[in-house]
Order: sequence, then structure tokens, then C-alpha cells
Amino acid sequence: MHPATRVSLGYAELRRAVEGVRLPAAIVDLDAFDENLEAHLAITRRAGLLLRLATKSIRVVSLLRRALGRPGTRGLMCYSPHEAERLHALGFDDLFIAYPVFRPDDVRALARLTREGAVVSVAVDSEEAALVYSEIAERQGARLRVVLCVDMSLRLGGGRLHIGVRRSPVHDEHDVVALAEKIRARPALVLHGLMGYEAQVAGLPDKSPFDSQLVRFGKRTLRAASMRELGERRARMAVALRERGHDLAFVNGGGTGSLDLTVGETGVTEVTAGSGLFKPLLFDGYESPFVSSLRPACFFALEVTRRPGPGMVTCFGGGYVASGSAGPEKLPRPVFPQGLDLSSTEGAGEVQTPVFGAAADALRLGDPVFFRHAKAGELMERFDEVVLVRGGRAVERVETYRGDGWCFG
Ligand SMILES: Cc1ncc(COP(=O)(O)O)c(C=O)c1O
Repeated sequence: MHPATRVSLGYAELRRAVEGVRLPAAIVDLDAFDENLEAHLAITRRAGLLLRLATKSIRVVSLLRRALGRPGTRGLMCYSPHEAERLHALGFDDLFIAYPVFRPDDVRALARLTREGAVVSVAVDSEEAALVYSEIAERQGARLRVVLCVDMSLRLGGGRLHIGVRRSPVHDEHDVVALAEKIRARPALVLHGLMGYEAQVAGLPDKSPFDSQLVRFGKRTLRAASMRELGERRARMAVALRERGHDLAFVNGGGTGSLDLTVGETGVTEVTAGSGLFKPLLFDGYESPFVSSLRPACFFALEVTRRPGPGMVTCFGGGYVASGSAGPEKLPRPVFPQGLDLSSTEGAGEVQTPVFGAAADALRLGDPVFFRHAKAGELMERFDEVVLVRGGRAVERVETYRGDGWCFG
């Protein structure tokens, strides 16, 4: 664990929390989760903005409900229409599906929800997508809310250099206005909001232990330059839409890794975050005082099942590698007992994970070893339930999406 990372639980507390629980097990420290949420809300409230929760980064209904209970939060950013449908059936509302969908049954589900009175919206970034939504919504007799999903990447050299993710083709105020007018021309659609995720800032650790000082400096410079450019561009887009009479219910931006920067923009009305509530490993690599202030709240426990030799034990399970470009930063890491490390040749294995270090000799067969995942919600796809811990003691076991039988991709 990074030396500056603050944790409230140690090996003894975590070990007590999983006593009698079948391992492997996922654990969330509610004290850290709540404190992290308050750290997010302190920033958004000060800026007069709302916080939308990214469901993909949590994937536990009870934790979504817990977070949405706090004043200053607003709705969910979902990743699937069928997810939104199920969440709505459980009483959640203001559901924004942030990724375009094309399967007719997906769009029909959204139209159905809309007809039933749910505040549900879906990302749109092309006329082609708008047409699909419009035809299905019309047939369903619904007026579907759509959110213009814009590209927040940094384009240099007249677009020859693209720094950011490849998602939406809609990049500037001319593009958004053109698409907004196409949407206006379709009576089965209504423009609900504007969303841009600045992945090259929010998802770019600028203090990663895997980078050299020079690379870190380069990333910090890039983050700052990109934020300046995109902040002005997003504001221009929102103004251009409003000047043409498009009434936006929200202008959304950000993620955990950019939250403290995105709130400074004039055009934004709300920010999205989710991972920061769990503070997975990747967020140990950020310079930002806000991200550094967050505490790891999510762990998983593996059972020691073998002792291949002195200074090492092998655990059952553990190959929970995070998505994205492949690299060592996507591996989970053992954190308790302290002083253990993965093997560079084996990493985290499909069903067995060896760990090395002096602390291994004090472990007995059947003991737990605690790890952190590189990312947040993905871990929940590996477990049916999660052990909730408060004050160092297990207080409840709740279902993950997987435990609810939910699988959305
Ligand atoms: C559209 C969008 N907004 C916001 C986020 C930020 O989520 P988090 O705070 O979990 O990093 C993501 C994450 O990938 C995203 O895809």
C-alpha cells in the first residue's frame, strides 16, 4: 500500500470481520465508505453542484441506496437499460444510461419506463442513434429523454493527435447544436442534458508508482492543459444549447479522478463519481489532495491453502484483474498482513495466488490474506455478497449485483 494511504482497519479487524465467512469474500468498510462520500459531497456542495453516482463503480444495491440517502446526491449513472429497469422497480429514479444502446428491446425498456413516469434518460452521440431511439419511442408512444454525450478528449494539431478515449464524435459547440436540432425535429425525443467524461484527466494517475518522475510530470502537465481546454469548451457547448432554447436538466462531467477540478467549471451542474467511495488501488496514484484524502473502503479476503516454502504462502482465488489496457497496475495487491507481494511471474492467479514476504511465515493454513482491487465495481462481479463492516466489526452481508442475479456486461 502507498505509504501515504490512510486506512482505518488493520489485519486484526479485517480478520475478525470475516470470521466464519466462507472465503474468498468481499468486504466494504462502511466507516471509510461514508467518510469518502462526505469528502465528495463537501466539494460538490461548496461548488453548488450535485453528485450523481456511477452504478458500475459500486454494483451493490444496498450501497447505492445508502449513498443516495445523503443530501447533495442526485440520481444514478447506469450502464444498461435493464439495470435501470430493475433499479426503478426497487424505487430508484433519475436514471441516466450513459452509454448508447441499440438493441430494440433495450430502447423499448427505456420507452416503457418513461411511459410509466420514470425520469430516465440515455446517451446519444449521433443522428443515427437518435433515429433508432426516435422510431422505437414513437412506436411505444413515449417521449424519450436523451442526453448529448460529447467527446472531452484533447485534440491537437488539427485533430491529428487525439489524447483521450474514443467514444463520441460530437466535440464542439457546432457539433452539439447540429445534433440538438436533429433531436428537436423528432417529436418522440426530448433533449434532457449534456454529458462529457474527461477520461484523460479522471482516469490518468499522475503519481503512479509504475511511472518515472518524467512520465509523472508529463501526465500532470497534460491533465492541467486538458482541463483548461475542455472546461471552456464544455461551457461553450452548454451556452450554445441554451441560447437556442434547449432547456437542459443537467450538464454532467467528471469522475472521481477529476472531481475537484470539474467542479470549478462554469457550465457544469453535476458531477459523477463512484470509484472514490471504494478508493481502489489505481487511486493511490493521484497527486490530487481530494483523491489522496480518500480511504480504501473495499477489500477482498483469500484463504491461505498452501505453503510452497519459507517466506511464501499460496491463497485460493485472487485472479481479479481490472479492465483496460493491460499492465501491472491492473493487478490486485495484498495489503494485510503488511509486507506481502505478488510474484512477478504469476501475478494474481485464476484459482491460486502465491504471495511472498516475511509476513507469510506467521500465517497458518486457513488464515485470510486481504487484497485491494485495482478498480472499484468490477470486484463485485466476482462475489454474490459483500460483508459490510462498521467500527471494525461485520454488521451485515448484502447482495452484490451478481448475487441479485444481475449481469449487464
Ligand atoms: C461516463 C462516465 N462518467 C463518469 C465516470 C467516473 O466514474 P468513477 O468515479 O467511478 O471513476 C465514468 C467511469 O468510467 C464514466 O464512464
